[in-house]
Amino acid sequence: MESGSAPRLATDPQSPDWTGRLAVRTRGRDGTLSAILATANAEGIINFSGGFPEHALFPTDVLHPLVEKLLHDDASVALQYAPTEGIASTRAQLRDQLEERQGRRPAESELMVTSGGIDAITLIAKSMLDPNDTVVVEEPSYVGAVTGFTSFDGTVLGIPIDSDGLDVEALARLLEGGARPKLLYVIPEHQNPTGWTLSADRRPALVELCRRYGVLIVEDVAYRELSFSAEVAPSLWSLGPDVVVQIGTFSKTFFPGVRLGWAAGPAPIIAQMVFAKQNSDQCAGALGQRLLEEFVRAGYYDEHLARARALYQRRAAAMEAALSEQFAGTRATWSHPDGGFFCWLRLPGVDTTALAARARDDDVAFVPGAGFFAGIADSEHLRLSYSRVSEPDIGEGIARLASAAGYSRP
Ligand SMILES: Cc1ncc(COP(=O)(O)O)c(C=O)c1O
Repeated sequence: MESGSAPRLATDPQSPDWTGRLAVRTRGRDGTLSAILATANAEGIINFSGGFPEHALFPTDVLHPLVEKLLHDDASVALQYAPTEGIASTRAQLRDQLEERQGRRPAESELMVTSGGIDAITLIAKSMLDPNDTVVVEEPSYVGAVTGFTSFDGTVLGIPIDSDGLDVEALARLLEGGARPKLLYVIPEHQNPTGWTLSADRRPALVELCRRYGVLIVEDVAYRELSFSAEVAPSLWSLGPDVVVQIGTFSKTFFPGVRLGWAAGPAPIIAQMVFAKQNSDQCAGALGQRLLEEFVRAGYYDEHLARARALYQRRAAAMEAALSEQFAGTRATWSHPDGGFFCWLRLPGVDTTALAARARDDDVAFVPGAGFFAGIADSEHLRLSYSRVSEPDIGEGIARLASAAGYSRP
């Protein structure tokens, strides 16, 4: 190659400084989620980090013939672009499913298909937020939602959460004091990262409060169907369909490779979210939509969920036993999840960000707690996900963690 035509390297001093020209709202964002996703298929580590479903549950034996049938009988729909709001037959089946499981059937104009949960969150943010609008979140909360809101110029404010979920009285005090958030983002069941669930008592009060002050509740039900008990409290959307947009995902209950979810809420908001989707990915993938639809229609979904719940319940019990064995009698405390993927561990006196690096030397990964806080970061917590770790590895991983933390019983 002639020297005159040699390509400029990004590091060439004469090349423009692109970093300085990035949109202000995107600068300095950390890559917490990308770092977690990068470990999805990491080998040789005991990985408590991501909210990953167990891959052994992926229903490949059933998906095989279903994909073949779709390609044979329905390729013109399954391999084509889809309507932005979702394929009509898939939406009809989702409406059936919501009616059956939550006791309320959304009208056609109240439901759309999304490309997973995070897509629904960014569509709401894009549709609702103007610069400096406030979004209230549980403190701590799901990192993807917090960054989703700040990416659209929202200001995020945390409200405490305890083992009965969001502190509704604290929210009432905030609103009575004059704050006027546009959105409240809440994960009522088996919250990410704490594993806590909003009690049935607090739910009607929360809906009523938000209705009174005109705050739109964004209810994220990512883990609702992964409860270990038969009793699940009414969804916020079923209690207040006029003030709630419910977002759901099939990433945890079907498989994340399909990138599918939904949003159900007031028709004008769903219409705006559909509009917003036209210039992001335009539509969720048709093949995934039809595959999920056929999977549910054939009756496999319920069986699959039952198997998933049983497995995650065993793993949660193994986590609880390992934590008790290693940390009982110390100052450590932890949550007791009755569903979902997560356990929230507090190690007083330990900086869990530094601990994460030490634990990686012992081939154990987890997510330090600091990144889950919208306000002042708490450095003593960490999130453990038991969903993807075998029971023997849970025991071994927690023993290594206790040793790396220098925590031992008195
Ligand atoms: C509470 C919550 N909402 C949404 C998501 C993202 O869902 P999806 O992978 O479908 O975008 C997650 C994933 O970890 C989550 O924990």
